[in-house]
Amino acid sequence: MPIIFDSEKKIFKLDTANSSYVIEIYDENYLLHLYYGAKIPDYNLKNLKFKGGFASFSPVNINIEDGRFSPDNCTFEYPCEGTGDFRLSAFAVRNADGNNSTDVRYVSHKIYNGKPGIDGLPSLYASDDSDVTTLEILTEDKVTGIQAILYYSVFEKLGAMTRSVKVINNSDKTVEIERIYSTCVDFQTSNYDMITLYGKWSKERNVARRPLAHGRQTASSKRGSSSHHQNPFGAIVANDATEDFGEAYGFNLVYSSNFSFDVEVDQNSGSRVLLGINPDGFGWKLEPGKTFSSPEAVMVYSDKGIGEMSRIFHRLYRKHLIRGKWKDIKRPLLINNWEATGMDFDGDKIVSFAKKAAELGVDMIVMDDGWFGNRFDDRRALGDWQVNEEKLGGPLSYLIERINALGLKFGIWYEPEMISRDSNLYREHPDWCIHVPNREKSIARHQYVIDFSRRDVRDYIYNEMYKVLSVNKVDYLKWDFNRNLSEIGSAGYPADQQKEIAHRFVLGTYEIMDRLTKDFPDMLIENCSGGGGRFDAGMLYYSPQIWTSDNTDPIERLSIQFGTSMCYPANTMGAHVSASRRAGYETKGNVALWGSFGYELDPNRFTEEEQVTIKEQVKEYHKYYDVIHFGDLYRLISPFENHFRAAWMFVSEDKNEALVTSVVMRKPEDRPFFLRLKGLDPEKYYVDEETNEVYSGALLMNAGLCLNEFSLDDGTSFKKYFKSVK
Ligand code: GLA
Repeated sequence: MPIIFDSEKKIFKLDTANSSYVIEIYDENYLLHLYYGAKIPDYNLKNLKFKGGFASFSPVNINIEDGRFSPDNCTFEYPCEGTGDFRLSAFAVRNADGNNSTDVRYVSHKIYNGKPGIDGLPSLYASDDSDVTTLEILTEDKVTGIQAILYYSVFEKLGAMTRSVKVINNSDKTVEIERIYSTCVDFQTSNYDMITLYGKWSKERNVARRPLAHGRQTASSKRGSSSHHQNPFGAIVANDATEDFGEAYGFNLVYSSNFSFDVEVDQNSGSRVLLGINPDGFGWKLEPGKTFSSPEAVMVYSDKGIGEMSRIFHRLYRKHLIRGKWKDIKRPLLINNWEATGMDFDGDKIVSFAKKAAELGVDMIVMDDGWFGNRFDDRRALGDWQVNEEKLGGPLSYLIERINALGLKFGIWYEPEMISRDSNLYREHPDWCIHVPNREKSIARHQYVIDFSRRDVRDYIYNEMYKVLSVNKVDYLKWDFNRNLSEIGSAGYPADQQKEIAHRFVLGTYEIMDRLTKDFPDMLIENCSGGGGRFDAGMLYYSPQIWTSDNTDPIERLSIQFGTSMCYPANTMGAHVSASRRAGYETKGNVALWGSFGYELDPNRFTEEEQVTIKEQVKEYHKYYDVIHFGDLYRLISPFENHFRAAWMFVSEDKNEALVTSVVMRKPEDRPFFLRLKGLDPEKYYVDEETNEVYSGALLMNAGLCLNEFSLDDGTSFKKYFKSVK
């Protein structure tokens, strides 16, 4: 059993294949955190407790005989605000008396197979109840009557666990939740580095790594989305951890709005790691009898370096987060018109793209922004989701028929959460956007954010979408989100609920996405937010792929894809070959093959020679689909560490197949160069399909693959495909 409760010692032990996590119910029912790390067989674990000596200025609990026990110096499971622990707290409730002293202690627990969902929020799921075991710990604040259920679900085989919290107002008074982190881990030391992913539009998810220092360090968003700027992923790794060596703890929030990943190194040089809804600007009024659920945090442990941490996330998300028809079956290879045409297209142009694309072997055409209302440029018409038949040369169904007749599927673009200032919808309902009274609304890309915290607004938008989608054969929908939330407020809620709006907004988005996936289960949804501004696990629950970045330059894409792969699997990353100038089509294809492959250009502009390359790429897409989409990713040379070349490989689960790719970013001075492969079976022999040379896995991993034969020119690249022979 992966979760065990020792009733005598009052210890919970949560084991995965490679990790253990230990909680103690201490005197006075305090829930103490004792350990998270490599798997340990022991059950005699009380000694793991930090016994920090008494320190002046640290308050003690006088009911505990051991006069040295201070909340300020111990490692807590779910630390609360204002009751003796001065570090960052995970939980704070402003009670009816007006203070926010909070103190929840153990009451009871349950252990069972399987994993519950979270009301209104995306979360990981068990494919079969035997995959996951769950522990629920009920805690209560005896003074206020507020209860918090702490959920822990253990994915034993995968080395991962999830945590979330449900608050119940068991009192007869209304309270306000001020802070509710989804997870908190108190580590006994601070000999770690913190890794986070920062960026901006068109330059998403750069890897930032720095040693922890005393005090607080944070990566967060308060943009009303997870954002290009920081990602709700953070890792704590040993100072000497590398891709293949050392301890790494990964944390990721299944959430698409304001989050905070915080680490506080305290007076004892312990480090408290927290991940959850950003408390900055958040508040939730909780009436008697009502509940509130936090988003889910995912925690992954690896004792084999950062690369293995990433692979655990990838396996976990492929199996227990991605859902629906397109989870395991081959997704269509698409072409999107955006980069080639912007909004300057008509039905005939889309058909001309489709015709050429069909000849090249593409499966689907996506008609991007500009097909509805008066949408001739980005200044207008968001919210007017009626097909512009004049532009398309007839009803949408007619365009789709023409495309289907060419043997192609059809996809369409939407941006449901937005409203243009110049739109019929805004003229009719100026209060339907996120705004605060009497204050000018900041505008971005000429648009406001529509108020999805309101049911009436959501229903209206969904019905407009339904009218189009239910009568047309739409195989794919690109859901875009092109600005962040400012002046966050809603005309649909009273003053004392305005702090809820950012969270209510994302709950509204999730609700619409849920309806969409239920009403149109066969439709493939790709998420997008000005490229990868909402690349998070919350979105992956509804859409198995996300447009990784608006930047399609293959060299820039290397760092974007490497950074994204810290947490998210390759098959979730939309990656397209475009007409961008740096590097030729071969390299663009090799880089885009990393993810959910497609094209983003005018196919009628290909030269004869380029068409031959493209047809070859299409074949490769099919040939390598499984090893890329379901294999393990090994980052061989990171563009964050090497400015000359990047290299990576995918290895199938059975280790019988491997695809190795390397790109020259700047001419390296490193002849001869041997690229040491990873993840192969040292005992197996592999044939290089191109040369028919056979090598052992041991040779390829220890001596490496000699790269002398390959070009060293900027922007060149190569792929090598190996298959096992014995
Ligand atoms: C965003 C997306 C692009 C495209 C445009 C359309 O920028 O990331 O791919 O869809 O919007 O307006």
